[in-house]
Amino acid sequence: MKVLISDPIAEDGIKILREAGLEVIVKTGLSKDELIEELKKGIDAIIIRSATKMTADVIEAAPSLKVIARAGTGLDNVDIDAANRKGIVVMNCPGGNTVSAAEHTIAMMMALARNIPQATASMKAGKWEKKKFMGREVNGKTLGVIGLGRIGSIVADRAKGLKMRVIAYDPFVNPEQAAKMGIEVMSLDELLPQADFITIHVPLTKETKGFINKEKFDKMKDGVMLIHCARGGIVNESDLYEAMVSGKVAGAALDVFEQEPPPPDYPLFKLENFICTPHLGASTLEAQKNVALAVASQVVDFLVHGVVRNA
Ligand code: NAD
Ligand code: MLT
Repeated sequence: MKVLISDPIAEDGIKILREAGLEVIVKTGLSKDELIEELKKGIDAIIIRSATKMTADVIEAAPSLKVIARAGTGLDNVDIDAANRKGIVVMNCPGGNTVSAAEHTIAMMMALARNIPQATASMKAGKWEKKKFMGREVNGKTLGVIGLGRIGSIVADRAKGLKMRVIAYDPFVNPEQAAKMGIEVMSLDELLPQADFITIHVPLTKETKGFINKEKFDKMKDGVMLIHCARGGIVNESDLYEAMVSGKVAGAALDVFEQEPPPPDYPLFKLENFICTPHLGASTLEAQKNVALAVASQVVDFLVHGVVRNA
């Protein structure tokens, strides 16, 4: 049976697939037409990350596909209804990059609070701008976590270690459980005006698309800082730009974007208090090894043993 790997995964995973007797084809960076052509060559399983878009027309055009496996968490790039219609199993392995995504979020928050990317660029340009880069402490500040799932909970835990007050909005969590971790769960309307820093950890769904928009920015505290390492499309980036220009938002750190990569004339690049990384939340040696091992063993379990499971 044939497995197409269309986004890069760690070698450890590829080894597991080959040792199970599967034929592995690694072809990354394919255009939509190239992807469809590959899928027509008797592909039984495809392993993807975020770059490959398994849209309805791609899925429809795949004659032998039995499983779409995401080496990671988000399944927003897979049309699950279209896969269901064709009886194609969709699986992910969310646990493997949770800590990395949470640590990246904390790193972004600290970099934002202390102007680390801007100060690095300034020094490399031969300057010594000590006065310009006045930062702020996170100690004693309020962190608002939107989405208190796997990643949001770890961010909250690490923020408690930094002596922050942590408040959260997540209609699906048990407030008593959260209280045991020292986190106050509240409505979004209560959270937005209280938080000094806001971090987003919800999945991209029909409900969360464009969720953080002008209406929400208007309710935030003046001078709030926003960190977004969840999924492009949840934050309305033109509304964020306006909120930053007006001074409502004092700084923003984005790892994920409505369009990846963003266009060269991307407005937020013009703002000095905007910092960014190219979707690096899960890009650690540890997370990539974890997800590659998990996704490969899930695909082997399904294709060779007929067992469906998520990590
Ligand atoms: P999770 O499912 O464990 O947690 C998501 C939480 O969001 C859940 O607790 C859920 O109740 C909550 N939620 C859902 N809809 C909500 C809404 N409308 N309002 C408030 N809360 C809502 O997922 P996770 O493992 O924590 O991952 C979260 C997201 O992070 C993923 O969906 C993925 O898009 C993203 N992610 C990004 C990277 C990266 O590289 N930047 C890495 C891993 C995951
Ligand atoms: C995920 O959802 O797991 C992330 O987007 C990680 C990635 O594949 O880069």
